[in-house]
Amino acid sequence: MDVIEVITTKRDGGRLSNDQIDWVIQAYTDGVVADEQMSALAMAILLNGMDRDEIARWTAAMIASGERMDFSSLRHPTADKHSTGGVGDKITLPLAPLVAVFDVAVPQLSGRGLGHTGGTLDKLESIPGWRAALSNEEMLAQLDAVGAVICAAGSGLAPADKKLYALRDTTGTVEAIPLIASSIMSKKIAEGTGALVLDVKVGSGAFMKTRERAEELARTMVDLGTGAGVHTVALLTDMDTPLGLTAGNALEVREAVEVLAGGGPADVVELTVTLAREMLAAAGKPDVDPAPALADGRAMDVWRRMIAAQGGDPDAPLPVAEHQHVVVAERDGHVARLDAMAVGVAAWRLGAGRARKEDAVQAVAGVEMHARPGDHVTTGAPLFTLHTATPERLERGIAALEGAVEYSDTPVTPGPVVLGRIS
Ligand code: URA
Repeated sequence: MDVIEVITTKRDGGRLSNDQIDWVIQAYTDGVVADEQMSALAMAILLNGMDRDEIARWTAAMIASGERMDFSSLRHPTADKHSTGGVGDKITLPLAPLVAVFDVAVPQLSGRGLGHTGGTLDKLESIPGWRAALSNEEMLAQLDAVGAVICAAGSGLAPADKKLYALRDTTGTVEAIPLIASSIMSKKIAEGTGALVLDVKVGSGAFMKTRERAEELARTMVDLGTGAGVHTVALLTDMDTPLGLTAGNALEVREAVEVLAGGGPADVVELTVTLAREMLAAAGKPDVDPAPALADGRAMDVWRRMIAAQGGDPDAPLPVAEHQHVVVAERDGHVARLDAMAVGVAAWRLGAGRARKEDAVQAVAGVEMHARPGDHVTTGAPLFTLHTATPERLERGIAALEGAVEYSDTPVTPGPVVLGRIS
């Protein structure tokens, strides 16, 4: 096989054969195809796209590059959730234990944040003692004993994607729908979940800025999952506004624990319960109402066992930033818009995210929001509290939030969290 021919086929708008796809993925994983050649191919795919069959084959080839997990020995059906990434998206934290209450096992392989979106593992690592790395055997044992596990994907799962994702991240080729869909779905199919609910984010703080592109991504992923025998459903949800009132690692864990204690911001509760309902239905339990398990402590019990099983102390106080700065409203008005991207960038600059994948993140850094769309504020009222361990970061964090809030003189009704559903 000739790698130049594979690249030029896609560059000139052609379709890749099954043999070409199988070969190029394996050869790239093995180091036979070089990074610069794969970058050229990824850019050609971004510009010229792939048809459904090419995407399905590309996904299958990435799955075949590594191992597949097997949960068939578990007593309960499995269901997983994947979010395409957003600002303040801490939903996995209350969701996994909530679903496990109802005897559906949740094998949640999660990632670290890159850019302005946070990663679930970074959030959980702000809990003293908690560890992300589990062996496959430990993961299976925890799923059986506790019913939920949130951990890092092992290096054996879709290694082609690991390499390709890191390359795309540095070559401006992340935003290609065929590459995003195959990247996400190769990991989820290889993971072996029986049911999968996708939370596809739309808006300023998401990869997909428009409803049209989000729908295309959702449809592509649902088709890939269904074609591989995974019961797959997608919700399109808003990411113009951050989720909840916090963005940043320990701050988001605090908010997730509030939700597990029966409180927390209404949008976080609504999305957690809606996704839980979808996961339970996809796993064969359509009549269960998960909401009461947040209020009565059952989900909190699973959370505590899930954290403790991975070495974390659920009673340990979360770290708090030594340096804080409050940004206040410059005028009276109704909050019409709170820009997710601006909040995400501020949290990132304060130290909650990383610029390169080997960077460390601060557990304490982030942004607390005191007003949301629909709220009325008066001049001088607090809008944001910025948190960081490194005060020299405050200035750039404050700059990111300039213009993040838009006002209206008349009352504002906030938009819905869930925008659509694709199955
Ligand atoms: N998340 C992934 O796992 N892959 C992508 O390509 C984008 C988001």
